[in-house]
Amino acid sequence: MKIAFFDSGIGGLTVLHEALKILPSEQYIYFADSDNAPYGTKTSQEIRHLVFDAVEFLIKQDIKALVLACNTATSVAVKELRATYSLPIIGMEPAVKPALKTSEDRKTLICATQKTLEEDKLKELIENLNAESKVEQLSLQKLVMYAERFEFQEPKVKKYLRDCFASLNWATFDSIVLGCTHFSYFTDTIRSLIPEHVRILSGNKGTARQLKRRTATKSDDQGTEIEYYISEKKADSHQFERYFNQLNKTNGLHRE
Ligand code: DGL
Repeated sequence: MKIAFFDSGIGGLTVLHEALKILPSEQYIYFADSDNAPYGTKTSQEIRHLVFDAVEFLIKQDIKALVLACNTATSVAVKELRATYSLPIIGMEPAVKPALKTSEDRKTLICATQKTLEEDKLKELIENLNAESKVEQLSLQKLVMYAERFEFQEPKVKKYLRDCFASLNWATFDSIVLGCTHFSYFTDTIRSLIPEHVRILSGNKGTARQLKRRTATKSDDQGTEIEYYISEKKADSHQFERYFNQLNKTNGLHRE
C-alpha cells in the first residue's frame, strides 16, 4: 500500500524530501492541488472543500497513510478528516515547541500563510505553550506564489522578504519558524537576509519522523516509487524532480 502526500502545490515536496531519507522503500503518491493554489488566501470553507475532494480521490488509490504536507490544510481540516477517515493522518505543526525549547530570552518569529495565522489551531498551540509573549507572527504569503513559479533567489523575492522583515528588530529574536511547507525552499535566501544568531526551523523532519512511527516499514527493499498528480490528473515527474534538486542545494536550515 502507498503513502499519500498532499499539498496545495509543491510545498509538500519539502516534507516528502525528508520522508525519503528515513523511509526510502515505500511507494508514494504526491498530490499537488496546483490548479487551486494558493490556499492561504482562500476561506476556510473553500479550503475544507478542496481538501476533502482531494482526500476522497487519494483514499481510492489504496493508501495506508496520508500526510497533510500543508500547514494551511492541516489548520483548517485535520480534525474533521480524522473524524471522517480511519487511516493514519499526519499533519503539520509549526515548530514552535522546538524553537522555544532552545530559546534563551529572545522571541520566535512564526512565518506562515495568512490563513494559518488566522486559524485557531495556531492560537491553541501558542496558548498551550504559554508562549503569547514569546512569539510574533508574520505572513509571507507571496513566497507560495514564488515557489510555484520556481523563483527562489530572484531580486524581487529578496526585495519582498526585505520589505516583510523591515520593521523587525532582530536583536529581540533568536529563531524563525517556517510554518508553511513552501517556505523551506527559501531557507538560503532568508539566511542571507537575517543575522547569524537567528536560527531557522521547520516542522518537516518532525513530520517525517511521525510518519515513520505511524507506518509499519516494509522489510523488503524495493526502492522508492513516486506517482505524481496535479489536481487529480497524473503528472510527469520531471517538473517535481527539479524541486528536489533545489532542496538538495539548500542548506541554511538549523539542524533539528
Ligand atoms: N504549503 C502550504 C502550507 O504549508 C499552503 C500554501 C498555500 O497554498 O497558500 O501552508
